[in-house]
Amino acid sequence: MAENETVRTIGLSLGADICWPACYEHMMRRLDLRIPSPDGTLRFNVERVFIEPFDLEQSCRYDVVIDRLTHWYHTSREWIKKAIILNDLYVFNNPWSLQSMEKHTSYCAMMRLGMPIPKTWLVPPKAYAGANPDVQPTLSRYAKLFDLGKLGEQVGFPLFVKPYDGGGWRSVVRCKDEQALRDAYEKSGTDVMHVQAGVNPFDRFVRTIGFGPQTHHVRYDPDAPLHDRYTMEEGFIPTAEEEHLRKVTLTINAFFGWEFNSCESLRKDGVWYPIDFANPCPDSQVTSLHYHFPWLVKSYLQWSIFCAATKRKMRKTLDWEPFYEIADSGSSFDERLDGYAKIAERRFESDRFEEFCGKHLAHLDEALYEFFATQDAKTAVRQKVTALYPAHEIEPFTELFWGRIQKWRADSAATK
Ligand SMILES: Nc1ncnc2c1ncn2[C@@H]1O[C@H](COP(=O)(O)OP(=O)(O)O)[C@@H](O)[C@H]1O
Ligand SMILES: [Mg+2]
Repeated sequence: MAENETVRTIGLSLGADICWPACYEHMMRRLDLRIPSPDGTLRFNVERVFIEPFDLEQSCRYDVVIDRLTHWYHTSREWIKKAIILNDLYVFNNPWSLQSMEKHTSYCAMMRLGMPIPKTWLVPPKAYAGANPDVQPTLSRYAKLFDLGKLGEQVGFPLFVKPYDGGGWRSVVRCKDEQALRDAYEKSGTDVMHVQAGVNPFDRFVRTIGFGPQTHHVRYDPDAPLHDRYTMEEGFIPTAEEEHLRKVTLTINAFFGWEFNSCESLRKDGVWYPIDFANPCPDSQVTSLHYHFPWLVKSYLQWSIFCAATKRKMRKTLDWEPFYEIADSGSSFDERLDGYAKIAERRFESDRFEEFCGKHLAHLDEALYEFFATQDAKTAVRQKVTALYPAHEIEPFTELFWGRIQKWRADSAATK
């Protein structure tokens, strides 16, 4: 290290991810950043975080950790909690927000803030796992019999039965009538289920990816095969509606301390209904994002570099009162949403982030454009495809996703 240089270390806490970390690491090497700061010239080191025993008193070598693991892997979660509390580590996402990483909590929060969540009931599970001796006495004393058919009528058909904490379309069933609802419940096992009114018919389905103050809207086609669900359409909603979804996304992310998340909204009769806003380890795979993948890699880079370079303080506790004050202000929903979004922009330091990127990462677009023409980038795509697809589909699907990334390059060159 040269004199007057300070190294900031970014850790990648990963599970099965292949493609985005490879591209992230290649890009960091290519950028080879030198950012002037009061601490000297900042350099950046990227390392993968390994799983190993740890002493609670040990120091932490990372400034920022991008975490994709702790929502299910306990050892890493506890290491991260320790490092935040004792070593002032910055992590996204906040591991204490885990308890809210289910649809249920996000629905409640959004309802409290005045957003139109489709009518939703929660029903106790059909079955219980494990050998807890208290289950039987508890249920026999306190679990009330209920009429699922009547509940379905109140919600209205067609409706959706889905786990209150679901993900990846696990156990999601569309029920057109009472019989279908009863069948779905019979099959739901130990899952705690929601029964939710269908937003039906909807005329737009949008996924908004939020990354710090950055957002990106994609028209989503739930009926298409997996590799075609994120469409490549442009201009599919008016700018005012993009802005609406941007504000809703920033609001819910700031409310729960989520710095990256993917949010699903359906539009019916001009109203946007949030249906799935708790994906705070968002799909980051080239095999689903393809055309949008470079945007995602760019967002990972910009937000993590900003957090590491500025030594941004991690918000360790959630503070809902400012949102509640606006919620209870009696003003129109649009005014309240503006107010929520302002809190979110303050918490995500939108202005400072924009200024930082303009000053220190202005060459990033060009660098991404060049990188996504290289063999390294194509290898990352192929590796991900190889992990997911049968042997005879590896080449055609690698070419398909690579072709879409090349279309992104052509489109971004055209708009320069
Ligand atoms: N209330 C609803 N109205 C219309 N479609 C829905 C509704 N809830 C779920 N769906 C459909 O089911 C899919 C999966 O449900 P979702 O709530 O997103 O669960 P998951 O977390 O498993 O993705 C959605 O992408 C959408 O196509
Ligand atoms: Mg979903």
